[in-house]
Amino acid sequence: MEHTPAVQKQYFQFAYQTGSDIWTHIPYRYQAETMLPTLPEDALVLDIGAGRGLWAAKLVGLGYRVLGIDYVESIVEKVNARIKEDGYTDRARFMVGDARDIPFVDSSFDMVTDIGTLQHIEENDWHMYTDEVYRVLKPSGYYLNVSLSRTTPRFMGWIPKNSIDGNFTKFGVHYHFFSEEEIDTIFGEQFTIIDQQFETYESKSDPGDSVILMFTLMQKNSN
Ligand SMILES: C[S@@+](CC[C@H](N)C(=O)[O-])C[C@H]1O[C@@H](n2cnc3c(N)ncnc32)[C@H](O)[C@@H]1O
Repeated sequence: MEHTPAVQKQYFQFAYQTGSDIWTHIPYRYQAETMLPTLPEDALVLDIGAGRGLWAAKLVGLGYRVLGIDYVESIVEKVNARIKEDGYTDRARFMVGDARDIPFVDSSFDMVTDIGTLQHIEENDWHMYTDEVYRVLKPSGYYLNVSLSRTTPRFMGWIPKNSIDGNFTKFGVHYHFFSEEEIDTIFGEQFTIIDQQFETYESKSDPGDSVILMFTLMQKNSN
């Protein structure tokens, strides 16, 4: 199937509707939590591509206030309804928004997190994304990125570690597997990398597959 931005968005929408969003169940939250910087009490965090909001719920549990954006309207509505039921609308809220055009004003957030969204954005748009993250972060704010690593041995039967460009398309969805050098190049001018870790996760749906995720914590440089 050909990859287009519209097909990709439909894929995410359909996955949330049918419960086939397998990424939600990758237990990355443990590792991500260990890398969180010390933030001021009541800090405001933006989660980009928030999906079902499980990472945002974790951040609320740690005492932060969280705004999440996702471009799939139906999941945003669903998560807002759930947090209303659970009674923490004063600590978290979700909005429809695109990672390349973040619907918040400059210098709003103490930290921005992205678990698995940048990897679905086309290379041509990476600069829009990084400029937006930089713009909405407060001075010296933190950014945690979790992305597919090029060192991954096997993903849907494909071998990312043997790939030259790290690009892969399946069911009309674009995936990019990042090398450490790419993360340096994409973020290096605007951010300083302060920690980078790798974790391997065996696939439950595709026996023999395992993905390696690259966790990178960065801090916004002053301009
Ligand atoms: C792999 S999922 C990860 C979801 C969630 N962060 C998690 O860890 O479970 C990628 C998410 O990014 C969203 N997404 C993809 N491209 C986006 C974009 N350009 N702007 C906003 N959200 C986007 C998708 O709808 C999906 O929820």
